[in-house]
Amino acid sequence: MKPKITVIGSLNMDLLVKSSRFPNRGETILGESVEYFSGGKGANQAVAASRLGAEVTMIGAVGDDLYGDRLKEILKKDQVDISSIKTVGGESSGLAIILLENADNRIIVIQGANAHCTKEDIDLNQAKIRESDIILIQMEVPLETVNYAVSMAKTFNKTVILNPAPAQELSDDLLQKVDIITPNDTELRLLTNKKTEGYNFNQRIDMLLEKGVQHVVTTIGSEGSVYKAAKQELITFPAYQVPVVDTTGAGDCFNGALAFALGRGDSITDAIKLANKTAALSVSKYGAQSSMPTLDDVREFEKNLNYKK
Ligand code: ATP
Ligand code: RIB
Repeated sequence: MKPKITVIGSLNMDLLVKSSRFPNRGETILGESVEYFSGGKGANQAVAASRLGAEVTMIGAVGDDLYGDRLKEILKKDQVDISSIKTVGGESSGLAIILLENADNRIIVIQGANAHCTKEDIDLNQAKIRESDIILIQMEVPLETVNYAVSMAKTFNKTVILNPAPAQELSDDLLQKVDIITPNDTELRLLTNKKTEGYNFNQRIDMLLEKGVQHVVTTIGSEGSVYKAAKQELITFPAYQVPVVDTTGAGDCFNGALAFALGRGDSITDAIKLANKTAALSVSKYGAQSSMPTLDDVREFEKNLNYKK
């Protein structure tokens, strides 16, 4: 049976601007190209899970501008149930300006309609949350909505994965309701605040575990990921050796794959292994959703695995 996943999160139009280097402060430079890709952390994670074989519903919001319908249609083509994505009149869709220099990126997100994904939307879609195996959520919709959705998911005893991106401080009350949190290095630092300057991963993760999260999975880009549960040893999952063209959405790919694998019943360590492979494949292609692999792609990749030295 296909795992059922509800993603609560953002949809953005990504403007991918390539240049040979980033401009300095106050400087204007000529870029190389601009391309439009469908993105948004929520939508990217929905596509990642769906391409691997999950039955995915997305709760979110788009604007009634040029991009809104297009963002929804693209998700629909990837078999994501878009019936819980609303269109907000008089508002623009979320937009991300992505500056790409070689494989390195800098991103500014304009929240637009994503800011209108509210508690009422969670109430309206209570039945979908209740039917899901996994609830996957990020921080590009209002914090109030995140808090509300996580609380509802817990009352239905659902497994909640929180990808705390973009980084912001979170209350202990929220953290205690999260089963699995998936910060990258920057987000982990912010969540454990500056007092931990000089601390290593293990110590920072322990601080989060002490706040009541059950499992911490930290992604560390080209170094792979690490995992720790309360009172357990830290486990390291090295990255795979791949040609890197664009890392945008690598974290989203990782989260979507993690949700898929946990939803089908994998152990958390097996789920992280699959997520590491799936995300490695995604960094070899441009764009976020456009770079998400299928399960067949992952199986093919498994035949020639190569860890980073
Ligand atoms: P983004 O915000 O760009 O989506 P992120 O910062 O949330 O990314 P990362 O930690 O950069 O996430 O990457 C997520 C996962 O992607 C890593 O844990 C790893 O599995 C894979 N990955 C990222 N970069 C590389 C790379 N250069 N080579 C191999 N795998 C990679
Ligand atoms: O994680 C990558 C995503 O972050 C991009 O697709 C962009 O929309 C921003 O939300």
